Amino acid sequence: MFCIGNVRLENNLIMAPMAGITNLPFRMIVKRLGAGLVTSEMISAMGLAIGDKKTRDYLMSDPAERPLAVQIFGAKPEAMALAAEIAVENGAGIIDINMGCPAKKVIKTGAGGALLRDPKKVREIVTAVRKVCHVPLTVKIRSGLSAGPTVAEEIGLMVEDCGADALTVHPRFVTQGFSGHADWAVISRVKERIKIPVIGNGDIVSPVLAQKILTQTGCDGVMIGRAAVGNPWIFQQILSLENNGNAAEPLLSERKGLILEHFALLSRIKGEIRAAKNMRGMLISYTKCLPGSRCFRSKFANISGLDTLAAAIDSYFSFLQDGLNSENLLP
Ligand SMILES: Cc1cc2nc3c(=O)[nH]c(=O)nc-3n(C[C@H](O)[C@H](O)[C@H](O)COP(=O)(O)O)c2cc1C
Repeated sequence: MFCIGNVRLENNLIMAPMAGITNLPFRMIVKRLGAGLVTSEMISAMGLAIGDKKTRDYLMSDPAERPLAVQIFGAKPEAMALAAEIAVENGAGIIDINMGCPAKKVIKTGAGGALLRDPKKVREIVTAVRKVCHVPLTVKIRSGLSAGPTVAEEIGLMVEDCGADALTVHPRFVTQGFSGHADWAVISRVKERIKIPVIGNGDIVSPVLAQKILTQTGCDGVMIGRAAVGNPWIFQQILSLENNGNAAEPLLSERKGLILEHFALLSRIKGEIRAAKNMRGMLISYTKCLPGSRCFRSKFANISGLDTLAAAIDSYFSFLQDGLNSENLLP
């Protein structure tokens, strides 16, 4: 059991917000596979505030994934507050504020990671959102904007003071993007300074590392991003390691079944053609750890609908099954 404000979660494993990835189908899958909390892609507060239809579509959710954390980004306190209200009206159970996005088009508006060099704006935004937001409020930060002394501790204290219920720390500087290593020592330092739950994030690529970040930094929860793409089973693997001491890989049949389920969920929401496009990249992720997947990439690239998807994965999984039967190579 893990609590963020008054929201009780089954566990402290959280799916990171990931633009282009954590859409409704992906969230439904990771939730079913053990994540205690799932988070939307980052959503433009201004887009929500002006009633943009495409932006609003990002709020689509399903009872099975709830409580859902909806992440908003922006630099204008009033727009952020209005966006939070709209998100809650549409089913958000937690509001998360993005203070780490490194994308140039976000930074140049003063939003995302740019906020880390503007503590006054941080205070205004968190205060404005807190005032209108009757569900728990969380903030996701990085170590600072650019290499040098970290500001995570100062920003953490400030958002706590403004009423945030939890803080996620991805300990890279914004200008680093995803290069180098996450410096978990920053998470430890933030944890020592603030009382609200601290969620550690960054480079957790295995169940063992999930256990390690908890013990090494003292953080209260764990947020996983890239490692869940292609391996959404990582959440149940972490739970299984904790409860039974082992973290089994999914069977080939489970992997194949999940790919088909993912496509079916995507098709229902986006239609078959857009689902096929989205699924091409996902297939590369789902199979990247398996033998021979590179040889099948050209087949994956030609997927245009259910028929071509089923044919490509049938041929690839038969190839894998043959390998398994003859050499006992695979789980
Ligand atoms: C493709 C991609 C999209 C991302 N989108 C977001 C986002 O919308 N909001 C956010 O706060 N972080 C975003 N992130 C950062 C992740 O949430 C996470 O902090 C980062 O990937 C480090 O965690 P990991 O090492 O477990 O991947 C994104 C990362 C990637 C790779």
